[in-house]
Amino acid sequence: MRPKIAVIRGDGVGPEVIDATLSVLERVVDAEFVEVRAGRAYFNETGLPMEEDGMDKLRGSDALLKGPIATPTKGRSYPSVNLRIRREFDLYANIRPFRSYEGISLRRMDLVMVRENVEGLYSGEEELQGDVAVTKRVITRSGARRIAEFAFRLAEKEGRARVTAIHKKNVLKVSDGLFLEEFYRVASKHPSVEADDYIVDAAAYRLVKVDYPFDVMLLPNLYGDILSDVAAGVVGSLGLCGSAQIGDDYAAFEPIHGTAEDIAGRGIANPLGTILAASMMLEWLGSKYGHEIVDVGRRMREAVDRTVEDGVLTPDLGGDATTSEVAEAVLERM
Ligand code: NAI
Repeated sequence: MRPKIAVIRGDGVGPEVIDATLSVLERVVDAEFVEVRAGRAYFNETGLPMEEDGMDKLRGSDALLKGPIATPTKGRSYPSVNLRIRREFDLYANIRPFRSYEGISLRRMDLVMVRENVEGLYSGEEELQGDVAVTKRVITRSGARRIAEFAFRLAEKEGRARVTAIHKKNVLKVSDGLFLEEFYRVASKHPSVEADDYIVDAAAYRLVKVDYPFDVMLLPNLYGDILSDVAAGVVGSLGLCGSAQIGDDYAAFEPIHGTAEDIAGRGIANPLGTILAASMMLEWLGSKYGHEIVDVGRRMREAVDRTVEDGVLTPDLGGDATTSEVAEAVLERM
């Protein structure tokens, strides 16, 4: 039995970082890869944001590895493919680890952000009432509870000491109030892990100002989206950070960055964030395919660390290596 992995190559630098990651994955795991076409390039060609049987292909796979997908804000546009996949598979937990690298990162950091991924300001409930634009920020008790549970279980599994909830309860008393209430209710069932909370603007400042600012951070959707780019800036590059979007039965893995149009097509995009996302995917697949695949994921992450330490770097980190040279360096170190 071998895992079946759906692959969306995405737009901009997406195909470059995905192809580089596949060049590593195909050498170290026995898996079947199934391409699903989606995004801007596919839309321009066909008028559809995703292949008609795309969702069925995803349903028939164990997990999705994806590159960033453009959601145009001007001209002909289409509904976000990312949001559609998140909602379809209820991928409610967005996990983003941030680890610093000596000589590269602005500060020392080893934290995991657990971002609520399907509610908050990304509810999709928006309308124009005359000259007034209204977006509903939806936080449900059950949604707040399950993401808090996820964060505490992750802390226990990884041996982490503290979970910090990020909020703006001083202003958003009702919605962030409910988020925080459920957080502390769940915390009381996990006495071995400390629980505290931080206001979102102060948290942004703390991320750039002190070493080891947080351990596990639990964030409503929009705060998680923004603060994870802040953390990536501290680590050194958006191109150096991966993520997992996890639901009860399915998960999608991707770099945290977007399509990076300014460098697309030049072969210099940093593939390490996508390779780290792939290593998270192998770890997640372990529950179905056993510890060997988890071990490959761990070795892949360690090889990324050594690649950075050895100075094989793309230009975003001050080096002159190409995307494929960095991927080759990771493979060599495995
Ligand atoms: P971006 O992440 O694409 O770029 C921001 C900056 O980071 C740019 O200077 C870029 O060159 C740099 N960068 C990003 N990835 C890099 C890499 N791998 N190596 C080296 N440098 C890298 O953010 P932006 O410009 O806001 O987004 C562009 C598009 O991407 C938008 O259409 C947005 O909707 C989409 N997007 C898609 C995501 C997804 O599919 N999950 C996530 C974020 C954005």
